[in-house]
Amino acid sequence: MPPTSIISGGSRGLGLALVERFLARGDRVATFSRSGSAALAALATLHPDRLHAETIDAADACSLCRFVEQVSRKFGQIDHCIANAAVAHEGVLPTMRDDEIDSMLSVNLRGSIVLVREAVRQMLLNPSASSSVVVLSSIVAARGSPGLSVYAATKAGLEGFAKSLARELGSRGIRVNAVAPGFLDTDLSASLSAENRSRIIRRTPLGRLGEPADIVGAIDFLSSARAAFITGQVLTIDGGAS
Ligand SMILES: NC(=O)c1ccc[n+]([C@@H]2O[C@H](COP(=O)([O-])OP(=O)(O)OC[C@H]3O[C@@H](n4cnc5c(N)ncnc54)[C@H](OP(=O)(O)O)[C@@H]3O)[C@@H](O)[C@H]2O)c1
Repeated sequence: MPPTSIISGGSRGLGLALVERFLARGDRVATFSRSGSAALAALATLHPDRLHAETIDAADACSLCRFVEQVSRKFGQIDHCIANAAVAHEGVLPTMRDDEIDSMLSVNLRGSIVLVREAVRQMLLNPSASSSVVVLSSIVAARGSPGLSVYAATKAGLEGFAKSLARELGSRGIRVNAVAPGFLDTDLSASLSAENRSRIIRRTPLGRLGEPADIVGAIDFLSSARAAFITGQVLTIDGGAS
């Protein structure tokens, strides 16, 4: 039976690249986002039996619970969970609105935690030879970045979550790691000013912004038996910028 991987936020950006990679390696993949995309619909046509995609909001805990239940009913065992969906509202703290703060906390932090809780419950009920969780952090969790304090708080929270959960679940054979990319060329970073973009590129030894393709290989590795002795780690992938 091929492994089943849940990947949140698979409609575009890194999530879409992950869905493509995990389908290519033979997994059954379940993903969700608030809206679909032509690229995801094309993948669903190519892989009708191995791709399950829904439109739900990660801020709604009940929808996340129903989603995981549905996936486990459809595919059986859940082997890997990648908490990737996130939003970023940029702005200095004194001008940040309550709804922007709530949205980042409820999608990035609570949404990821609830999704992982539901997936881990299924992993514990139905153990597999290689079970893992990867949460998407960001380089700003450790380094900080002006205008991203609340977003950074959500990502730093996820790193603490991953490290503690790794200790909680190690004895049950479930590995938990975080991946912390530097700035990637996706919709999430589209609001970066040209000046900020050049500044980030200047301080990156490898001389460019990251691409989703730079990150998917590491997540593919961490979500496989090749990483069987790696847990509780934060893997930074930022072209050497930190
Ligand atoms: N881009 C960067 O520079 C960068 C750097 C470091 C870390 N990261 C992290 O890497 C991950 C992927 O980022 P990305 O650049 O690929 O972002 P992206 O291009 O903006 O894609 C985000 C994905 O999450 C989904 N999503 C957002 N809010 C959602 C919600 N409330 N409910 C369900 N799905 C939701 C989006 O679909 P819908 O909008 O249709 O819901 C989309 O599929 C995130 O965790 C991000 O924090 C990104």
